[in-house]
Order: sequence, then structure tokens, then C-alpha cells
Amino acid sequence: MPDVTGADTEKRVAAEAAAELVEAGMTVGLGTGSTVAHLLPALARRGIGEIRCVATSVATEDQARSLGIPVEEFSTLRRLDIAIDGTDEVTPEGWLIKGGGAAHLREKIVAAAAERFVVIADSSKPVEALRGPVPLELFAFGIASTLARLGDDVELRAVPASPDGGVIADYRGEIGDPAALAARLEADPGVAAHGLFPPSMVSELFVGRGEAVERSSIGA
Ligand code: A5P
Repeated sequence: MPDVTGADTEKRVAAEAAAELVEAGMTVGLGTGSTVAHLLPALARRGIGEIRCVATSVATEDQARSLGIPVEEFSTLRRLDIAIDGTDEVTPEGWLIKGGGAAHLREKIVAAAAERFVVIADSSKPVEALRGPVPLELFAFGIASTLARLGDDVELRAVPASPDGGVIADYRGEIGDPAALAARLEADPGVAAHGLFPPSMVSELFVGRGEAVERSSIGA
């Protein structure tokens, strides 16, 4: 049964607006999640012509291919014109928490490669301050020692390993200053990625509100 809730409509209108940004000849990063699930049919319907896409998850890759959108490995492309992805939370400054679907490592690599990173969301995603949890991807090597260093605030998530072999976990402690927490997590050699995305990585935010789309420019 299709989900036709208000949130689903908001995801769809935000995704459809973002799909309009994609033009023939572009290299495109495709995010992951229920909002991106609306982006892919919107892209397919536009029949844009030749675009080159990379996907941040197997689920996105499968859906894109089923709609006739070509997806290639992210190995030779040095940059992307645009990446479009959802978010779990976004603050007024543009800090994101991503990774509810455990795809945050690939999502961050794709966002970092994109000239323009457009975040699409329903109206439940904007928050005054990040609440968490903050998804983590940890290297399997030395996992017990990594968990011991990170402390009791980190819990393993009962999901399969990532496509890159990483162990998915969540930081459930205080967030406070997201930049300070991001730096602390990045300083640990056992952390492959965390789900805090800084405003400098985000170009624009498209939030669905009812049938309307509220657009704002962020850091980059
Ligand atoms: C995937 O790991 C996540 O980062 C998603 O992009 C994020 O959780 C948003 O998902 P929805 O679009 O399903 O809300």
C-alpha cells in the first residue's frame, strides 16, 4: 500500500523540485531513503537525456536501475555536479544528522564530491538543535577497542554490516556543539564516518510544507 500521509506528500514535492535542478550531461549523486525514493521516479519522468549517476546505497541503485536511470560505480568520477539526498534532522544553521538508513559513509563521500549538495526533507526534519542519535560507521578491525574508547554513549545497531564492511552504531550522548562532537568522533581512528554533516557541505535545503516547497541556501 502506498504511504499517502502528509509527510509523504511533503517528501514528494521537495524531491520533485530538486529533480528539476538536474540537466542533461550532469554527473549526479543519488542519496538514500524514503525522500530520495520520490526523487528517482521524478528524475525518470523528466527524461532528461544523458546523465551519469552514482548511488549511495544498493537500495537506491536498484530502484534507479529499475526506472531506467543509469548508475555507475563511484570509482573514476572525480567530482559530481550535484548530489541530492534526504536528512534525519536539519538545524537553522544547516547542520544535518544523516544515517538513519545506515548509508551515511557513502552519503558523505558523495556530498563532499558534489559542487552542489541539495538536501530534501519533509517538515518534520527541521529542528532548533540536533537531538540525535548520531549514526556512526566503525571499522570492524579493533571494534571492541573502538567501543571501549567511545564509551557507554555508543550502542551497536542491530543491522548488517555496511557495503564497505563497517559496523553500524549510534552515539546517544549529549550533542552540544556539533562541531566539537564531530571533531571528537573524527579524532578516533576506529570511526570510519559519523552522521554529522556540517553546513559548509550543504548548498541548499528544500523542505516540503504541505504542497509547497520552502527553499533556503545554506553554507556552500
Ligand atoms: C540514510 O542513511 C539517511 O541518511 C537518509 O538520507 C535519511 O535518514 C533520510 O531518510 P528519509 O528520507 O527516509 O527520511
